Amino acid sequence: MKTDRIVVITGAAGGMGAVFVRRFLNNGDTVIATDSSQDSLAKLAESMNSARLHIRAADITDEADTKALADLARQTTGRVDVLVNVAGDFPLQPFLEMTAADWRKIIDINLTGTALMCQAMLPLITGRGWGRVINIGSASIYSGVPDQAHYVAAKAGMIGLSRSLAREFGSEGVCVYVVEPGLTITAAAKKALPQSIQDTAIAVRCLNREEHAGDLTGAVFFLASPDADFITGQTIIVDGGNEML
Ligand SMILES: NC(=O)c1ccc[n+]([C@@H]2O[C@H](COP(=O)([O-])OP(=O)(O)OC[C@H]3O[C@@H](n4cnc5c(N)ncnc54)[C@H](O)[C@@H]3O)[C@@H](O)[C@H]2O)c1
Repeated sequence: MKTDRIVVITGAAGGMGAVFVRRFLNNGDTVIATDSSQDSLAKLAESMNSARLHIRAADITDEADTKALADLARQTTGRVDVLVNVAGDFPLQPFLEMTAADWRKIIDINLTGTALMCQAMLPLITGRGWGRVINIGSASIYSGVPDQAHYVAAKAGMIGLSRSLAREFGSEGVCVYVVEPGLTITAAAKKALPQSIQDTAIAVRCLNREEHAGDLTGAVFFLASPDADFITGQTIIVDGGNEML
């Protein structure tokens, strides 16, 4: 297994992000963890207790913040090998009640923020013949979700972004992927999604149990490894066997 990678993780203080941070740190990699709140990152750092963890708050929808993160990486680690875009937001809002500002906010966080992070980090990933961008999408794009039109549209857009970046950066040895979770029991999901939706997600799966953040680390870790060197532009659904393509 490859170790000593420099891994940038957004949404690092969230339910999935924190689990990914721990997995890479445990493997001997260095992690630059970012999220919107410095306090939650400080708590994350306390719980990880690792000299290989760097934290910096940033709003991924703000170009100046994403550039500042790239500067931090340039100064502290000098390069980035893997970018894992986890930050996202998935509120329920009836379509006819969404303002243009609501729509733009969710597109901004889930799609534009991911693109800005790619733009900031790719100059640090390229030039050594090996690199990874792993974007956390959502399996919801296949069947759609009522009251989440903005979110589902943004996550569908992430596939176009990822495929295009796979084409544009393949010659640099940079592979780009989307990992699509099903409904995953994080604190944010429990708060945003009513119990009835959580129960339905379990019922429609081949594997009838809750999905947890740890169910996603295997796919993320595989894609971040040389085992996936000849795979790029692909989307992997990790949802216990609901959507099947
Ligand atoms: N939990 C699920 O059911 C589920 C299902 C499919 C996909 N996903 C996707 O997985 C990812 C992680 O989900 P989670 O359940 O861990 O959610 P979470 O809310 O616990 O984590 C998301 C993190 O992103 C951060 N964030 C939001 N906006 C930001 C911004 N503008 N700048 C920087 N950071 C920002 C939040 O502070 C949060 O810590 C998200 O992209 C989500 O859309 C989640």
